[in-house]
Amino acid sequence: MSSLPEVPARTLDDAERASVEELRTLQTERMAWSLGHAYANVPHYKSAFDEAGVHPRDFKELADLKHFPFTAKKDLRDNYPFGMFAVPRDQVARIHASSGTTGKATVVGYTKSDLDNWAAVGARSLRAAGVRPGDRVHVAYGYGLFTGGLGVHYGAEALGCTVIPISGGQTARQVQLIRDFEPDVICVTPSYLLAIVDEMEKQGIDPAATSLRIAVLGAEPWTDAMRTEIEQRLKVHAVDIYGLSEVMGPGVGNEDVAEKDGTYIWEDHFYPEIVDPATGEVLPDGAKGELVFTSLTKQAMPVVRYRTRDLTRLLPGLSRPMRRMERITGRSDDMMIVRGVNLFPSQIEEELLTVAGLAPHFVCVLTRPARLDELCVRVEAREADVDRGAAAQRLASGVKERFGVTVTVDVLDPGGLERSQGKAQRILDMRGEHN
Ligand code: DLL
Repeated sequence: MSSLPEVPARTLDDAERASVEELRTLQTERMAWSLGHAYANVPHYKSAFDEAGVHPRDFKELADLKHFPFTAKKDLRDNYPFGMFAVPRDQVARIHASSGTTGKATVVGYTKSDLDNWAAVGARSLRAAGVRPGDRVHVAYGYGLFTGGLGVHYGAEALGCTVIPISGGQTARQVQLIRDFEPDVICVTPSYLLAIVDEMEKQGIDPAATSLRIAVLGAEPWTDAMRTEIEQRLKVHAVDIYGLSEVMGPGVGNEDVAEKDGTYIWEDHFYPEIVDPATGEVLPDGAKGELVFTSLTKQAMPVVRYRTRDLTRLLPGLSRPMRRMERITGRSDDMMIVRGVNLFPSQIEEELLTVAGLAPHFVCVLTRPARLDELCVRVEAREADVDRGAAAQRLASGVKERFGVTVTVDVLDPGGLERSQGKAQRILDMRGEHN
């Protein structure tokens, strides 16, 4: 494996240099403010706290947070569009929304000061990824109501970068602008980056020879196997950025490029907990469960114990006081239960990247032809002349051996699956279509 670009020396801001004790003190102060702000200004929180028999003044230390009620996506939907806002309408400087796959959009709002904080954590995220002032940043996350494009854009500007706001789509043009504008950094979903790399190869451009040094990848689950694939093909550092609209957008956390070992959560703004997804019980650091966030500084739309449905565990910081989270293996919504065994698309991704003839473009198709669920992995061959039978066999037996699940594998032509231009849809659930 030939070497990747040099990593710049780490630079940290004051909050990243604080001690864990200083961080806890700051969080305690900010949490007291945030709970009081939510209770005083959002009718939903007032009634939810009252119902649970808690009042913001009951919060004395971080361990008291567990007495406060959870917030779920449904609460946001039930208060559509602006019922969760905690400031007068004229103080809301920006609105974003996520369409969601079902039902109403979830709407989020920001004051001017929220936008400044978001830009600051965005800048910190990019800096952790190895981006430096003066770098040229190609932003291929979607612009619009989705938080990805604008979120990263303001972060890059705050860091002092030159931003190229191309947004998602128009893949041939993405390639042309990468060639012509020579960006140092690309911000994009990992699945769409692969589509861009394929397009480079189609145009006869060597992906390893572009100006890019760093790819800041997120908005969907991806594996270390995918990191290796991207780093080798593009000769960039592939670094994880995490976030969700309800909590802020991209930049809730980010990996450190020199570590590539867990995503730092910017805990001075977003307080994480891990809970048992079934019982809601708070789990200790190191235990795997559902990630829950309470915002510490947000004015327009504070969130209290928001259930992300993302599954991970918290790990201690290495170079910073903030905790890291392990790579997100999936959302509880994405868990497939195939004949009683739990399986995530990320596990399929990991396994298929061990099979030389298969490309990492895939979709998990769930059907129920008789009474039992069946999973067919549709995946592309890397080259037209791959022995598809053998590749399918290797993937199926690998999945069986590692995860104990029987799957069928359908190997398609290269380019046989539709490419996402943003978040990849990894599950196609057709179980309702049989009788
Ligand atoms: O996807 C915000 C974002 C934009 C993050 C660009 C990073 C880069 P939502 O559309 O609200 O916001 O989706 C949030 O996406 O709860 C996770 O399930 C998933 N997700 C986001 N980042 C990652 C990541 C944006 N790095 C939902 N790894 C979250 C795994 C991620 N999943």
